[in-house]
Amino acid sequence: MDGGNYWEDVYRHAKTEDLPWYYAGLDADVKAAIRGLGAKRGRFLDLGTGPGTQAVGLAKLGFDVVGVDISRTAISKARARARAGNAKIRFIVDNILDTALKPKQFDFILDRGVFHTMKPEGRMRFIRTIRRLLKADGVYLMKCFSTKTPGTWGPHRFTKGMIKEYFGKYFEIVSIRDSLFQGKFGDRPKTLFCVMKPR
Ligand SMILES: C[S@@+](CC[C@H](N)C(=O)[O-])C[C@H]1O[C@@H](n2cnc3c(N)ncnc32)[C@H](O)[C@@H]1O
Repeated sequence: MDGGNYWEDVYRHAKTEDLPWYYAGLDADVKAAIRGLGAKRGRFLDLGTGPGTQAVGLAKLGFDVVGVDISRTAISKARARARAGNAKIRFIVDNILDTALKPKQFDFILDRGVFHTMKPEGRMRFIRTIRRLLKADGVYLMKCFSTKTPGTWGPHRFTKGMIKEYFGKYFEIVSIRDSLFQGKFGDRPKTLFCVMKPR
């Protein structure tokens, strides 16, 4: 599930509002993390922005938001959503594993459901890229499926130990806690919500 064609197909053929991860509001964990950090301004990357709802939510809080996605159709739909909601956001088609984004430009990166779609062989490249895009005092917010979600459908699942193992060399793990994925899933999948800072 980490190829560009796969995602382009998804957004071309589905109504965005019917996608399992679609959530109209800003994710509750993201809201709480921002509140906890006392963050009010700064440049936010909404990585794998998809429907663009999170990008719009962040822009409405006053952040300067850039939304990127590997799917051209997702970006054009997200752009339309932002326009309809009067949110000023820069949207770019970009593959994070081969990004054209300039380093050290973001105060925050939101990854709601992207890392967990990466194949094992792409994960360290993904993590090094996130680290490179963040300013030295930046913050990375990440939500992924946890091993407490039964089955093997959809994205990969992680334990807290696996997250520490993958990210620990490049990030200080500020917090990892159990949470849920709000969206259109029947049963809300169990997730991990992580706050990290570059080492
Ligand atoms: C589970 S969806 C989450 C969408 C959005 N973050 C949200 O919360 O609604 C994962 C998103 O990551 C995007 N994506 C997957 N691989 C990517 C890559 N290599 N570079 C950029 N975006 C990617 C997909 O197109 C998809 O929109």
